[in-house]
Amino acid sequence: MPAETEVALERASASHFHDHLLSDRAANIKQSAVRDVFDISMQPGLVSLAGGNPYLQSLPLDRLGETASEIISGHGLEALQYGGGQGTLELRRQICEVMAAESITDARPENVIVTAGSQSAQDVAAKVFCNPGDVILVEDPTYVGALNTFEAYQVDAQAVMMDDDGLIPEELERRIGELKGEDKTIKMLYTIPSFNNPSGITLARERRQRIVDICKAHAILILEDNPYGLLRFGDDAFRPLRADNPDDVIYTGSFSKIFGPGLRIGWALVPQHLQRKFYLASEAVILCPPTLNQMLLSAYLRDYDWKAQIDTYRELYKERCDAMLDALEKYMPDGVSWTRPAGGFFIWITMPDGVDTYPLLQQAIDAGVVFIPGAAFSPSDEPNHNLRLAFSAVSSEDIAEGVRRLAPVLQEALAAD
Ligand SMILES: Cc1ncc(COP(=O)(O)O)c(C=O)c1O
Repeated sequence: MPAETEVALERASASHFHDHLLSDRAANIKQSAVRDVFDISMQPGLVSLAGGNPYLQSLPLDRLGETASEIISGHGLEALQYGGGQGTLELRRQICEVMAAESITDARPENVIVTAGSQSAQDVAAKVFCNPGDVILVEDPTYVGALNTFEAYQVDAQAVMMDDDGLIPEELERRIGELKGEDKTIKMLYTIPSFNNPSGITLARERRQRIVDICKAHAILILEDNPYGLLRFGDDAFRPLRADNPDDVIYTGSFSKIFGPGLRIGWALVPQHLQRKFYLASEAVILCPPTLNQMLLSAYLRDYDWKAQIDTYRELYKERCDAMLDALEKYMPDGVSWTRPAGGFFIWITMPDGVDTYPLLQQAIDAGVVFIPGAAFSPSDEPNHNLRLAFSAVSSEDIAEGVRRLAPVLQEALAAD
């Protein structure tokens, strides 16, 4: 028997022996569509408008290298050692300063839990609050990574409609009423109020407190995810929901978009009465957040002008967003519409009802451009007529070229509709 056949047979029988051992939860664990296209995006010659990667080239990499080296040679015994499960006190204090830049001025370091990216804060939230079958309300569309986390905990993610001003309060009330009528237990509303991933939509100021009040009235916690909040294009900041509602909102933040995702440092700001459970659940998974990375971040927040770096990012991303909007205007056929984000990384494209964007991905790749089909960002399995374009990691010239390549693919789909 050829060696490969033997290996294949062995694998088949190993899987046969172990499949029945898998948990019910494991059946729900799946790869995110964003990760699916990650490898494709790396192919030379393709313009990737798929991944929401920050543009790290504008960081002071040489100087950061020196800082990292000083931390290891000067404080290596601390930096390479286990640390406290909640994160270093220095970083938690600095995180409070970062949140103060977004109008959250009453945060205390005791209530900050440093996590392995904000992704792991979402995981902890689902673990701490949800039994299988419990409902988490989500925006439609919403962040695919959160959907995957919720599904892994057998959570029933239920979409609430948005319009150009974000979640629609009346829709939220209606969905809550409907779900309660079906005897569902609703635990949380997961929301990305500012510069939503994938849509780029921002919850209007006048809706913000109403959304919280509706949730409060129904004893539903809010899980506010705000990794893009500091990356606004205009001067007017949007006040996070947490700023005026310390007891009703679990707030998650991240250094992934304002510094670097490779460090895997995010955080949760948790209401006092929930802090201990949240912290213990986080510690049970990661023991402690990476000490070296926390020390590097602390040095960055202490010794560098991180606010000026954010201003640089804001300018850069605004320029790229404008380049994408100009290209869409220039190349897109009639019948295609898109959002106009006030910050963040993404533009959301809408095709007419009846067009499914998933099969268009291969045609787009053949045309030399990659996007993420809209279905990835919805808990529903229905065909989806949206797609996400990211402008964060690609030059303005490449953005224009990518949109130019995409236009005929969409045009053909419209003609076939
Ligand atoms: C809305 C949103 N939340 C959370 C995350 C995860 O970020 P982190 O790298 O902090 O885990 C992302 C990453 O793309 C995101 O877009």
